[in-house]
Order: sequence, then structure tokens, then C-alpha cells
Amino acid sequence: MNKLVFSIETSCDETSVAIIDNNRNILSHITINQGDHSKFGGVVPEIASRSHLQILQRIIPESLKQAGIKISNIDLFSATCGPGLIGGLLIGSTIAKAIALGLNKPFFPINHLEGHLLSTMFSEKIMFPHIALLLTGGHTQIYLVKSIGKYTLLGETVDDAIGESFDKVAKLIGHNYPGGAKIEKLALQGNSEKYKLPHPLQYKKDLNFSFSGIKTAVSLIVKNEKKLNNENKKDIAASFQSMIVKILEVRTKSAFEFLINKNHKIKYLSVVGGVAANKKIKETLSKIASKYGCQLVSPPLNLCGDNAAMIANVCLEHHKLDLKPNLYFNPNPRLSLY
Ligand code: KG4
Ligand code: ZN
Repeated sequence: MNKLVFSIETSCDETSVAIIDNNRNILSHITINQGDHSKFGGVVPEIASRSHLQILQRIIPESLKQAGIKISNIDLFSATCGPGLIGGLLIGSTIAKAIALGLNKPFFPINHLEGHLLSTMFSEKIMFPHIALLLTGGHTQIYLVKSIGKYTLLGETVDDAIGESFDKVAKLIGHNYPGGAKIEKLALQGNSEKYKLPHPLQYKKDLNFSFSGIKTAVSLIVKNEKKLNNENKKDIAASFQSMIVKILEVRTKSAFEFLINKNHKIKYLSVVGGVAANKKIKETLSKIASKYGCQLVSPPLNLCGDNAAMIANVCLEHHKLDLKPNLYFNPNPRLSLY
């Protein structure tokens, strides 16, 4: 029987709702970037929570209209229950739970990170095992994905997340939050050799990352330049992005080597999360994947950043695997996946 899945994503500053069917067709999908945090230089949790509440009241009825269905036609309800900002998680999950309870339908709590990890299912057939790079504003992790629900963390950042470092560098050269896409655009016209930036953890043999030192180095460059002109900004963006790409390149190669040595037959490399929108990063990862005889897989561009369709997809998969719904699951800002 055709199942309809409804989901809410409110873990950070995107308010998103989606309705999908059990063939993963997206019947409606509305994502509102709150945008009103840019003047504070980052997401203000209290403002985000209030905005989620207001926006959801508007976009939930809109999403039903778009899908041409009534709320009572929905079979499975879901919402992001962590990790993320607790105010937003509470609002999104409480609304989804309340509707599910009122209609006597199941509610599935979903991990945001699993949402990103499985978001490639909207573009490719998922295969196991594969290596996944999860690159967002809050996380930088490498996983071995053995099957749905079996995720082994191989390495992660010890300080800033990769998206966070893009945002901080953007801010240092005068661009509003979030700055990842702006850095990518500026880097296209800059000289990546102009500024020498550090390569943190270069000589460490593990699969962890560190980005905060690069941001500090950029802040010193900005100070020394006194008055930054547009050329300096482009060169900083290009030099920064090139170091980020180098770091990802080294760690991805090491992950392949590590897993191949352990006899894992890796089917492909995936890159997911907001930073997966970056073309230069994808180009480089694609070359590495082909060196190891596989392909790079990433979600469609509109599903790289935070969105509810990826949450609905996990809900569907959990239902297919007969995992139990849980109306009483408490949102957890530090919910982990492993
Ligand atoms: O996955 P996401 O939407 O939210 C979190 O779960 O954190 O990721 C947002 C992050 C932001 O830091 C943003 O600057 C970054 O993704 N980002 C990019 C690009 N587009 C978004 N970073 C680099 N290049 C891009 N094109
Ligand atoms: Zn995310």
C-alpha cells in the first residue's frame, strides 16, 4: 500500500516540512531559511526557535495544499530529534508528535546526521559498504556506512566544523553568515597560492580534522593587510578553500587505504551536508574516488543543506526495516549516530 510520510526539520535555522510517498517521490517540500540571523554573525537559538514556531504554522498547511492531500491521509509522522539546537528540536518534534497523536498515527524520531547520510538516496541507488563524508556547519565526519543503521565513525573534527570555518573566514573578510557559498564564488577569481595557510594535523596518521588554526591564520592576515581590497579577499578565499580541499583530499585517501587494508570492498564515496554543494570539493573527491575504482555520489543540490525531505526518507527506511515508532522519544541536542 502506498504510504505517505510527513516530516519536520528544525535543528538549526532552516524551517522545513516535506511530504514524500514510499517511492521517495517528493509531493511537497518547503524549506525556509530564516535569514534573520546574519546581522548577529551566527544563529541565535532563541530567535531561531520563535521563527520555527511561526513559520511552521504557515508552511504545514501550505505543504498539504501543495501535495493535494489532507493531514489525515498521512501514514507516518517524523521530525528531527537531534543533534541540533534544543529549542528548534522541541518545537518541530512536538508539533509532529501532537499531530501524530491526534490522528493516532506513528511518530518516528529521526537523527539529523542519518538524514544527511542517506540523502544520496534521492539521486542514486544506495550501496554498501561505502565511505561517507558528512560536511556541515556543525559536523565534519568520515563514516563507513555498512548498511542503513550501521554507521562506523572513522574520524571527525577536533575543533571547528568545516562549514563553520567557511562561515568564520567569510565573516573575517566582511560577508554575512552563512558564508560558504560566497567563499566558493570569490575563490573562483582568486590566487590560491597568494597566502600560505597552515595544514593542521598534517602529520597525524588518524582520520580526524582540525580547522580552527586556519581561521586564526586568516584573521592574522586580515589584521596585517590593514585595509582589505577586493583582490585580497578573492585571494584569501582561494587560498583558504584550497587548503580545505587539500585536508579533505589527504583524509579521504587515508580512509580508502585504511578500509581497503581491512578488506572492505568499498562501493562508492559519498559527500553530504551543506558543504557538499561546493563544486571544487566535489571535483577533488571525485578524482580520489576514481583513483580507488569508484564513483563520487552526492545528493541533489537542493538536498545538500538542511531539509525535511531527507528526514522523511529516513522515516520511510526505518518503517521498511520494521523499526519501532516512538512518540515518547525526547529530543537530544547531542544525539549521536553510533
Ligand atoms: O548541512 P547544513 O545546511 O547545516 C548544518 O547541518 O550545519 O550546512 C550549512 C553549512 C554552512 O556552514 C554553509 O556555509 C555551508 O554549509 N555551505 C557551503 C556551501 N554552501 C553551504 N560551504 C562551502 N561551499 C558551499 N558552496
Ligand atoms: Zn545539517
